[in-house]
Amino acid sequence: MALILSHLIEACSPYIPVLIFLVAIAVLLGDRSQRTRILRKIPGPPAYPLLGNLPDMPRNTREIVPVMRRLCERFPGVMHTSLGSIHYVVVSSAEAAEPVLGSKRFLDKGIDYGPVRPWLGLGLLTSTGDKWHTHRKLITPAFHFAVLEPYLEVMNECSGALVRRLRAAGTGFINVWPFISDATLDVICETAMGVNLSFQSGSASEYKAALQTMGNIIHMKSLRPWLRNDSIFWLLGWKHTQDKALNFLHSFTQSVIRERKMLLKEGMNTPSETPSRKRLAFLDLLLSSAKNGALLTDEEIREEVDTFMFEGHDTTSSGITWALFNIGRMPEVQRKIHDELDEVMAGRDTPPTRDDLAQMKYLEWTIKESMRVCPPVTTYSRTLPEAAQILGYDVPAGTDVLFFPHMIHRDPRHWADPDRFEPERFQPERSAGRHPYSYLPFSAGPRNCIGQRFALMEEKAVISAVLREFRVESRRQYDESMMNVCLTLQSNGPVEVRFVPRDRE
Ligand code: HEM
Repeated sequence: MALILSHLIEACSPYIPVLIFLVAIAVLLGDRSQRTRILRKIPGPPAYPLLGNLPDMPRNTREIVPVMRRLCERFPGVMHTSLGSIHYVVVSSAEAAEPVLGSKRFLDKGIDYGPVRPWLGLGLLTSTGDKWHTHRKLITPAFHFAVLEPYLEVMNECSGALVRRLRAAGTGFINVWPFISDATLDVICETAMGVNLSFQSGSASEYKAALQTMGNIIHMKSLRPWLRNDSIFWLLGWKHTQDKALNFLHSFTQSVIRERKMLLKEGMNTPSETPSRKRLAFLDLLLSSAKNGALLTDEEIREEVDTFMFEGHDTTSSGITWALFNIGRMPEVQRKIHDELDEVMAGRDTPPTRDDLAQMKYLEWTIKESMRVCPPVTTYSRTLPEAAQILGYDVPAGTDVLFFPHMIHRDPRHWADPDRFEPERFQPERSAGRHPYSYLPFSAGPRNCIGQRFALMEEKAVISAVLREFRVESRRQYDESMMNVCLTLQSNGPVEVRFVPRDRE
C-alpha cells in the first residue's frame, strides 16, 4: 500500500506546485467571496459585474463632493461600494465613525496612503504599530500650548508680509489661494525646520516646484490606481520626475538636519544661543530628544520633518482660504469679527499675543464653522486589521473604511439646517452635549491630527491680521460645484476675494 502511494506521489510530483497554486487561488477566491457576501449586507448602490460601482463614481475631482453627497444621502451613515475588486465602506455619520476612529484596535492607515510613502517614508502620518506609538509619544510634547507659543511670533511676521502683499495687490478681485499658500509655506518652513525660505517674496521657487510636483504625483496616483504599479509609473516617465523632486526635497531636509545637529554638538542646545536662529523649530525638539537618549535615526527625523512639511501647509492654506471666502460672503459675520477685533486689540497696532487670540472667540467659531462646511482634509481612511461592527453591520478584516467629513458635518440630527453658515453653533452652550464624532476636520481618537492647536493658532493669527486691516468681499456665493477634491479641499477655479483697506472706508 505504502509502495503504491509513494509511486502515486512520484507520478504526481511535477504537478504538485500547480495543484498548490490552484488550491491557494480557490481558498483566496472563497475568502474573497465570503468577504464580499458579508460586505454586500451593508446598504449601497448595486454593483455591476466585474466593475463594481465604478460607473457610479465621480469621473473627475470636481464631481467628488456632489456625487458622494448624493450617494451618502441615499445610504446614510454607512455605505458599501466597490471599485472593481476593491471594497470600501464609506462612513458619513458620527455614530458610524466612532467605533473605528475611537478604537485603539484600528490604527492602520488605508491603502490610499501608499502614494505619499516615497516622500514621507514612515513618519507619523503613515506609520503604524510600535513605531507610530513611540513616535507619537515622543512628538506630542512638541505640540503643547506652551511650546507652540514662540511660533506665534513666526505666524505674526508671516501675516504681516501677507497683509503688505494684499495691500500692494490693490482693491480689485484677486485669486486669494497663491497668497495664502505662500504665507503658510513660510510659516511651516520656519517652524518645522527653522529655515526662512521667504516664499512670499518670490524666492525658493525650486523648493516650491518640488513640493508641487510631489503634490501632483500623489494626487494623480490616488485618482489613477494603475500608476501605483511601479513598471507603469516608470514606463510613463513619472518615476524620473518623482526621483528628481524627491532627491531635491530629501537632500534639502537632510542638509538642514546636518546643520542643526552640528550646532547642537557644539553645545548650543537652544537656538536662542545660536547666532543664526532665534527660535526652536520642531526639528530642534526632535534632535534634542534624540540627544536625550530617544532612539530616532537621522532618517526617522527626516521622515517626521517632511511629514510636518506635507501635513502642515496645504491643510492650513485650504482652511484659511475657505474661511476668508466664507467671511467675504457673510457681511453680518464679518461685522461681528471686526467689532471683536477692535475691542480685543483696543487701538493697538502691535501683533496679537496668545491672550489676545484667546479672546477672539467669535473669530474662532467662524474658523470652526468654515471647517465644518468646507473641511480642508476631505477624506481619510483605515484598513481594518480585524473585523469591526459599524451601525450593527459586520465589516470584515482587511476592509478599507473611508471617512467623509463633508457629510458627517451635515447630519441634520447634530447640525440643524446644516448648509447654513452660522458660527454661533460653536458657542459653548450650543456645543454642550453634541456628539463628539459629529465634527471631524482633524479626525478624532488616538490618530487625530497632532497639529490641530498649531493649525488653529495659525488660522487665527493670519485671519485676524488680514481682517484688522481689510474688509473682505467674495465675488460669488457658496455652491458645492466650486469644490475640487485634491489632497486637500481646493476650488474649481479661482477663489476671488477683494481686500478693501478699512482705513479708507
Ligand atoms: C487646518 C489644518 C489641518 C487639518 C484640517 C488637519 C487634518 C488632519 C487630519 C484629518 C488628520 C488625520 C488623517 C488620518 O487619519 O489619516 C491629520 C493627521 C495629522 N496631522 Fe493634521 N491637519 C491640519 C494641520 C496640521 C499641521 C499644521 C500639522 C503639523 C505641523 C499637522 C500634522 C499632522 C500629523 C503629523 C498627522 C498624523 C498624526 C498621526 O497619525 O498620529 N496637521 N491632520
